[in-house]
Formats: sequence, C-alpha cells, structure tokens
Amino acid sequence: MTAWEAEADLVVVGSGVAGLTAALDAAEAGLRVVVVTKDAADAGSTRWAQGGVAVVVGDVPGDSVEAHVADTLAAGGGLSDAGAVAEIIAEGPAAVARLRARGADFDPGPGGRLARTREGGHSAFRVVHAGGDATGAEIERALVTATTDRRLPLLTGHVAVDALRDERGAVSGLAVLDDAGRPGVLRAPAVLLATGGYGQLYASTTNPETATGDGIALALRAGATAADLEFVQFHPTVLYTEDLLAGSSNRRAPAVGRRPLVTEAVRGEGAVLLDRAGRRFMTAVHPLADLAPRDVVAAAITRTLADTGADCVHLDARGIEGFPQRFPTVYAACRAAGIDPVREPIPVTPAAHYACGGVVTDRHGRTGVPGLYAAGEVARTGLHGANRLASNSLLEGLVVGARVAHAVAADRCVPRPATAEVLAPSPAVALAPRPVVQRAMTGAAGIGRDAAGLAAASDVVEAHTALGVPVDRAGVEDAALTLLAQAVLAAAGTRTETRGCHVRTDFPERDDVWQRQSLVVALDPDGRPVVRDETAAVGAA
Ligand code: SIN
Repeated sequence: MTAWEAEADLVVVGSGVAGLTAALDAAEAGLRVVVVTKDAADAGSTRWAQGGVAVVVGDVPGDSVEAHVADTLAAGGGLSDAGAVAEIIAEGPAAVARLRARGADFDPGPGGRLARTREGGHSAFRVVHAGGDATGAEIERALVTATTDRRLPLLTGHVAVDALRDERGAVSGLAVLDDAGRPGVLRAPAVLLATGGYGQLYASTTNPETATGDGIALALRAGATAADLEFVQFHPTVLYTEDLLAGSSNRRAPAVGRRPLVTEAVRGEGAVLLDRAGRRFMTAVHPLADLAPRDVVAAAITRTLADTGADCVHLDARGIEGFPQRFPTVYAACRAAGIDPVREPIPVTPAAHYACGGVVTDRHGRTGVPGLYAAGEVARTGLHGANRLASNSLLEGLVVGARVAHAVAADRCVPRPATAEVLAPSPAVALAPRPVVQRAMTGAAGIGRDAAGLAAASDVVEAHTALGVPVDRAGVEDAALTLLAQAVLAAAGTRTETRGCHVRTDFPERDDVWQRQSLVVALDPDGRPVVRDETAAVGAA
C-alpha cells in the first residue's frame, strides 16, 4: 500500500554533480523539480572525486579542445562515439563557468588563471581542481548549497524502486521506499536517473556505499538498454592497507570496502611507481610511462604484482614539494594509515573505480523509454568508450546534466495521450547475497578475466539467487547488484578480446572484429539480462 503520493514535472534520482546540475537548470526553466536520494545529499560518488575537471578554457599555451578530444578518443580504445566526445568536450568551458557562478571555488594559479594539473592519458596540464585534491567535495558543496538556497525539495533517505509507466510505456512516476521501508509514489512525466555507478560489485573500490548500480537496474526493468557494462575501470592507485582479520590477534588481510584514492594528479605532478625492488616499471610499458592512460597503468600494476608476488606497488611522491598542502586529502588518508608520503613511498594497488558503460542515452540524456533520462556515471553517452579519460566524468555530469534539463523542458511539449492505468515492473526480482556477489566479481571479473572464470562466477551467483520482493534500501541495492553482476559477467564473457578496461587473459589482444561494437544488454521476458545481437546507437544525436 502506498503511504503517500506527490507530484512534480521532473523527479531527479541522485544528488551528485549530474543530478543537481539538471535539477537547478530545470528549476530555472520553470519546472517543478523534486530530488530524491537514498542517503544524505552528499553521500554519492561526486564528493570523493579528487583530481578535478578536465576542461580547455583557452589559457594553456599549446592546448586545445581538439587535443582534449583526441586524448579522450585515444583513451576510449576505439569505442567512443566521436560525435558525443566532440559535443560534450566543446561544452565544458561554459559548464564550468556556470558551476563557478553557482559558487564552486577552484584553485587559483599564476596570473589570475585557474591552476592546472595533469592526469593519465592527457597530453596537457588541463585539469582544474579545488581544495588541492578535494574537487568533488567542493563541487558537491556548491551544488547542495545552491539547491537548498533555491529551496528545491530534496527528499533524502528515499531509495528509488521502479519507474511507473503508462499504457504506452512512457514514464508516469517513480515508486520509492523510505528508510523505514514505507512506500511512496512521485507522479511525474519525467524521471532522471543520476545514481552513479556500481563499484560496490567489488570487494575493494574507491566508490562509496551508495554505488550499487540501482539506476541501471531500474532502467533495465523499465525497458531501457545498457551498454559497455564490461568496461569497469580500475583506478591504478588506491592506498593499500591491511585490516586485522576478525577473531584473530595477528592475522591480517588487504582492507576491503571503500578505499582511499591516491589521485592520479600525484603522478601528474611527478610521482613514479616502483616495484617491490624499488625499480620503475612503467617506463618500459608506455611512452607516457606513469602517466599512461589508466587502463594501461592498472593492468601493468596487476602484472607486476603477479610477477613479483607482492601485495602492492609503491608510489614515490617524495619529490613533490609541499605535498601536504597540494594533496591534503591523500596526505590525511596516508597519515591515518601510519604512512608519511613526504618521507616514504605510498603503498598502492588498483581497485574498482568507474563504470565506463551504463544506460544507453542520446547526447541529451534520453533513454529509449519516453520520459526516462540518465546522466553521469549511470549513463552511457559514448564519451568514455572502453576506458574513461581521467577527470572527464565531472565534466560529463556538468554538461549532460544541463542538457537533460533542456531535453525535459523540450519533451514536455510533445503531447501524450491521457491514460488511466499505471504499470510497474513485477515486484519480484532476483536476489543474491551481497558478499557472494562481491566475492564472485572480485575473483573473476577484475583486471584479467577468462571464459572459465566468468562462467564459474555466473554459476556461483546463479546458485545463490532466489526471487524476492525488496522491502527496504538494502533489498533494492542487493537486487541491483545481482542484476549488474549477471549483466557484467554476460557482457565480459561475450567480448572475446582485450580492449580498454576489459582485459581477457584468454584473448590478450585487441580484435578488430570488435572495433566500434558496443555490447547492448536488455532484460528478457523473465527479467534476466541478456546480451543483444546489436550495437548501441553509437552516433545518436
Ligand atoms: C583521480 O583523481 O585520480 C581520479 C579522477 C577521475 O577518476 O577522474
């Protein structure tokens, strides 16, 4: 039974950079907007972003929008949509200007310009940052403040369960559960999913606890498609520490859960990776050495760990002057773990970081379901391809968030037939225990996958899956993680090549057969994700 109902023109699910940008712009365009988020307003991934926003504003000699586009396409491994890349990057400067006008304070550099740093795969110093390495936190602060200043309704502690649709299949609202499991309904002709990624599929991730793939699962159940799900980007450098094993006074194991990021900007400003013998190993791997694209560095670290039997490699940042001031977040995390990066190399290892794929959208955030939109990490616009270029994600959230607001306003003018009946997907969904899912994905679907391991992981998830009706946030999240595990395993098993973040040990080379082929996932009539024999609408305007 529904405890309450409310009405809006646009319901935004998620309060990170994409969601709040869209909400603010839509409100400015005169729409009645409600923002719904399952946790606190700032509990999503945005606030944890460190490096910055990649953007070309024309004040760095030798850099250009074309160079940024070229770097993005090179990182994307042949799977990016060149049109989407060009459009989104070209709109970056205006999007950052609007964010600054909303109160975000970026670090100043010499001569009245913004300070710049560099990250992996970038051919120039073009990443603007805030608070040293606290860029996401500053953006989140500014956008949450702007949202509350504007008195936009912000419904925290409410998890989105399913989109409601009319007889035609168009969105007519959103079903939610509050923290006590009480159901509510927001009636609206437009729902924007801005729910972030699915890093919590893995035991160790840079993502917060909220990153459970809810938006992709909801979109698939509503009839939308997803693509590029096999491209899970592992960040090369998270702080490596050990936790005491429960019930033991001296046995330790690598710490799991959300792990502190050591931003790539640390390498951008001169730090280098060392193996257990203290040797640099990236110089032999790629011309950009420690600043190679992220997939290359993460895979090289993984190989080095396997070759040497070590649990971590080390990042030597001792040459960076003023490290504590330039990287206060990293410094604090290191100090909390008993490491002094000013005096000793930082132990690091890769961890799940970013979903390059997601719900298939056009360049304005429209999914294939009328009235359902997606923006930010949950979406697959074609910008990232097989491997996202560092710091392109906050940029994408800003640009596509704004574009969605325009799209929703424009789409309102399209008349819809009056309809009485409201449909929601079947409430019974596949549910597997989260620790089982995380163990299976960590063991078989990290950096280095093969057919046997992927099939075995699918079998394990399957064997532990039962149908159930989620009655609270944990249940909704577990259902999303179960569905995402099935979908990622299916896509990763289908792509018989190595490309970008998808590294197959049984198919170690790139195969041109797969060039420009994005694998599309949809649900079959039984609600199971299947890889469709088609490619995503690459190039859709
Ligand atoms: C980092 O600061 O290294 C992460 C930035 C990103 O993932 O774009």
